[in-house]
Formats: sequence, structure tokens, C-alpha cells
Amino acid sequence: MSRKVLVLPGDGIGPEIVAQAERVLNVVNEKFGLGVEVEQGLVGGAAIDVHGKPLPEVTLEQAKACDAVLLGAVGGPKWDGVDMAIRPEKGLLGLRSNLNLFGNLRPAILYPQLADASSLKPELVAGLDLLIVRELTGGIYFGQPRGIRTLENGEREGYNTYVYSESEVRRIGRQAFEAAQKRGGKLCSVDKANVLEATVLWREVMNELAKDYPDVELSHMYVDNAAMQLVRAPKQFDVMVTGNMFGDILSDCAAMLTGSIGMLPSASLDENGKGMYEPIHGSAPDIAGKGIANPLATILSVAMMLRYSLNAAEAAQAIEDAVGVVLDQGYRTADINSEGMNLVSTEQMGDAVLAALS
Ligand code: NAD
Ligand code: IPM
Ligand code: MN
Repeated sequence: MSRKVLVLPGDGIGPEIVAQAERVLNVVNEKFGLGVEVEQGLVGGAAIDVHGKPLPEVTLEQAKACDAVLLGAVGGPKWDGVDMAIRPEKGLLGLRSNLNLFGNLRPAILYPQLADASSLKPELVAGLDLLIVRELTGGIYFGQPRGIRTLENGEREGYNTYVYSESEVRRIGRQAFEAAQKRGGKLCSVDKANVLEATVLWREVMNELAKDYPDVELSHMYVDNAAMQLVRAPKQFDVMVTGNMFGDILSDCAAMLTGSIGMLPSASLDENGKGMYEPIHGSAPDIAGKGIANPLATILSVAMMLRYSLNAAEAAQAIEDAVGVVLDQGYRTADINSEGMNLVSTEQMGDAVLAALS
């Protein structure tokens, strides 16, 4: 089986965290004899600097030719002034849509050792294990028309379109129902069906799908309530399924329950298991270059890559176990640090994971 991985470090802390994740990938590659071949590429601001655009053809070709992509993060103040059409973030969005990566899995799991780092009381988050399934190639992120126009009275108007076709809802719905079947059997679909027609249809399609999954208990929740429930009683959720923008917002919120946004990995999948893997956080310009970013979300993204795209569940489990070990040993980057723990740099956290793996 071919196991070609494209590594796209991107911007800000991207290269720092990806360097540690790559070391981990190399070690499990050797240890489990996976035959993974790694290739490097440019995306985001790093690609703008070299090619003048955030997703050069060469990167897209590389991405199409590989079995999985590992991405750090894109964006940063250096490129905030560039035209919207070629912002670093467009590189990421272009990869998602060109590769048809519509299904974004964002698991929020509390490692028990980090209960103190969560912004919620330990009893509210102990044992937390929820999965957000976010639709990733549609909705308001991609809907047309969009833009900024000047009205007849000379005033400017910005506009976007929130649109979902039935087939787009159905395919993300199926993925979410299937995920719920393999987990706790509960699926909560999050929408704004009291206001937005696009999500009235979303809810209808979810209800239709439910008939094919009698073993899954489907519920619906408005997104404003869902945000509140996530910080009130997050353990009520098993799998949540929602559209592109709501999923973006709710997953940052869920991340904090686990101690830090630096802990949350993600998988973005097409129909056939090809995927792109990235931490859910961004390029963190405020800490870039300082060597203090938490690499665990990216390292855990490698584990997801091994499990979902490279058919190497044992190696994936070894990485997840190693993360548990380093947390047991008290290693903490600044974002998850607490009293009496061993504060380490990005690279030292990578060292600790490697040590736990060998
Ligand atoms: P961000 O996620 O980059 O940072 C938010 C906060 O979380 C910051 O205080 C940051 O220091 C902290 N943080 C994030 N990752 C961390 C880690 N691994 N370890 C420790 N702390 C961490 O979000 P932002 O500041 O809103 O965005 C910064 C840039 O990143 C923007 O250009 C944005 O568009 C981009 N972005 C990219 C992605 C991506 O590439 N997938 C995701 C989100 C944001
Ligand atoms: C994420 C990010 C991206 C998104 C941005 C950078 C385009 O916030 O992956 O969560 O909004 O999807
Ligand atoms: Mn986001």
C-alpha cells in the first residue's frame, strides 16, 4: 500500500509544531515499518512569499498525488493586508474544496491529567469525550454570491450566502450518523432552524436520514443554546454535527474544555478516506518564534492520519498512548501548565513524546 504524506508547515507556529509531529511520524514509521514517504510543500503565507499565491498549482498537485496531508497552520499579520482572494487562509480553504474534504472530525477529549487546565470545573469535564462533525466545503464559507459592493446611495455593503444543498447535508449527515453508531449512539444536530431556511432544510434532511440509523438517537439544538450547553454541561454530548461556520466556532469553544486549543487535532476527509490532518488552532502569531507552542494537537493529528488514511491503527494508538504518558510524567507547555508541573518548550515536548514511544 502506498503511504505518501505531504507536509505543509505553513506560517507562524506552523513550522514549529509540525517539526515535532514529523519527528513522531518518522519514529513510528521506523518502529512499525509503515513505509511512509514524506514530501514537503508550501501553503498560506509561506507560499505567497515564494509564488505570490497561497495555493500554488504545484502544492495542489502534490496534495492530489499523496495519500494524506499534514498541515500546521496558515495566516498572520504579515499578510493581513493582502487581497481577500489571495489571503493565506484561501490556501487552506482551496485545499479543502479542491480535495473535496467535506467531513471534518474534531474530537474533544479531556486527558484526565489536564482537568486542572480546563476552564471548567473538573467535575464538569471529567471523562469528556465528544466529537464535532463539521461540514467543511459548503455553507456560508463557499456560498455565492459574496463580496463587497457599493450601493446606489454610495454606501458599501458586504454580503455572503448561507447555502446548503440536500446532497451536501446528506453526505455529512451520513458521516455523523456512522460516527455516532461507532461511539455512544447519540447525535445532536446543531442549526439555526428558527431563523435560517438553509438550516430548516438541514434539519429536515437529518430527520430523513435518522430512519436509516434506528440505533442512533438524533436530537436537534439551536446553535446559540449549543454554545451555552457546551460550557454548562458538555458531557451531555456524544457526537455533534453542524455546518461550516457553526462548527468552526463550537470547536474552538470545545477545545478550551480540554485544557487548551493546543490539544485538539482534526481530520478532514473525502468520500474515500483520503484526508488532511491539522490542529484546529491557527498560526498563533502572538507566540510564534518563541518555541513555546503546544505541539500535541499536531502530534495527535498524525495519529488521526495513521488511523483514518494510512490504515495503521496500532501506530496511531501508540502515539495517543505516548501523549498520555508524557502528561502523566508532568510535561506541560505553557498553555496547559499548572503548579508543580514540568514546564517545557515545544521541542522538549516533542522529545518527551519520542522518549515515551521508544
Ligand atoms: P489562533 O488559534 O492562532 O490563536 C488563538 C490563541 O490560542 C492565541 O492566544 C494563541 O497563542 C493560542 N494558541 C493557538 N495554538 C496554540 C498552541 N499550539 N499552543 C499554545 N497556544 C496556542 O487564532 P487567531 O489568533 O484568531 O488567528 C491567528 C491566525 O491564524 C490568523 O491569521 C487566522 O486566520 C489563522 N488561523 C489559521 C487556522 C488554520 O490554519 N487551520 C486556524 C485558525 C486560525
Ligand atoms: C479552522 C480555521 C479556518 C476555518 C480558517 C483559517 C480558514 O479557523 O480551521 O478552524 O475557519 O475553517
Ligand atoms: Mn477555526
